[in-house]
Amino acid sequence: MNPRENPFSPGAGTPPPELAGREQIMEDVSIALHRIRKGLSGKSVLMVGLRGVGKTVLLNRLKNDAEAEGLICVQFEAPEGRNLPAMITPSLRAALLKLDRVVGVGDALSRAVKVLGSFIKTAKIKYEGMEFGFDLGIEQGAADSGDLDYDLTELLQAIGKAAKEKSTAIVILIDELQYVPENQLAALISALHACAQNQLPVALVGAGLPQLVGNVGRAKSYAERLFNFPVIGALPIEAATEALARPVKEHGVDFTPEALAEVLKQTQGYPYFLQEWGSHCWAVAKESPINQDDSILATALAITQLDASFFRVRFDRCTPMEKNYLRAMAEIDSATPRSGDIAAVMKKGVVQLGPLRQSLISKGMIYSPAHGDTAFTVPLFADYMKRTLPEPQ
Ligand SMILES: Nc1ncnc2c1ncn2[C@@H]1O[C@H](COP(=O)(O)OP(=O)(O)OP(=O)(O)O)[C@@H](O)[C@H]1O
Ligand SMILES: [Mg+2]
Repeated sequence: MNPRENPFSPGAGTPPPELAGREQIMEDVSIALHRIRKGLSGKSVLMVGLRGVGKTVLLNRLKNDAEAEGLICVQFEAPEGRNLPAMITPSLRAALLKLDRVVGVGDALSRAVKVLGSFIKTAKIKYEGMEFGFDLGIEQGAADSGDLDYDLTELLQAIGKAAKEKSTAIVILIDELQYVPENQLAALISALHACAQNQLPVALVGAGLPQLVGNVGRAKSYAERLFNFPVIGALPIEAATEALARPVKEHGVDFTPEALAEVLKQTQGYPYFLQEWGSHCWAVAKESPINQDDSILATALAITQLDASFFRVRFDRCTPMEKNYLRAMAEIDSATPRSGDIAAVMKKGVVQLGPLRQSLISKGMIYSPAHGDTAFTVPLFADYMKRTLPEPQ
């Protein structure tokens, strides 16, 4: 059908035509942020899920919704290897500028700007990438100890007071949070904890791969009481059906039940795959309804394309030994193979393979859902590994 009208949007962070199945989490976050703004108890949110489940689009949506409620939102993505102070500082400055535009007294705001100035001046000495051309003044003795836990706590509290003074809240949205080093994550958690204890309206809405839960727990043991960790996963059948059927319906197009069944079976409800399959179905179908033959052809095309892109870019980031490890995992008929079983496939010892496993975790390829268990962070990756390397090495 007409490619100009193809409603599906496979990609990274590209908003889907229908954001299906996320109503509950959107409502939960809205309630939490409302409560935090009012100085009531409410937990910050760390959304965790595999690659391509829709964390980024959800984060963007939550940001838009929160802004519509009058909250001050700042958002950034944590790339691998950057340090938190350098990433968070421009965002917090942006938050203060936005706050400046909100009517109301601004005494606490003026102080927060100077505390940020002190924070930057001190952090510049310790952290790379803290290049700022602006001069905010400084607040002597505030956020300038050089200890990140302490300084970030003072800074977020000053900003929280400024937000409170203007009857709003600061929402910090961070994507790919699993890449923030544990000691810096600990400082962020301490700072949020202090804000929560003092009923200051500062909230974190983060997203990351499943290993984020462990990272946060190791960074601060009380973190599980400070955050909710909603799991963003594959869509259940009804939501997955909606994600496919609604966008085409707007063009007067339907799927036959057999075509839908084929797409649901192949994608297992994973959002990114739904977009890929939907897009291919639309492209190959000559007319409505999209039928079973169309969907089977779409499967062949989608898999070929995913193998050359989505799966391939991840595969290419691995060393030959790491690829062997991933292939060994795929050999085991379990979603969470045990380290011992993987080692047995590779005919090596568990301890010997420890560094390899750790390096795959750092790269975000795998994670450990429970002690000694390992799982892929990319859905349907095991099948890809088997297609690419027919035999374990
Ligand atoms: N609820 C949904 N319903 C339908 N499609 C969705 C939904 N959420 C996301 N998508 C689609 O899934 C794809 C992946 O979304 P997104 O990039 O947000 O995932 P992600 O979890 O951030 O992935 P990654 O971990 O790789 O960053 C996009 O094409 C998006 O349009
Ligand atoms: Mg993302």
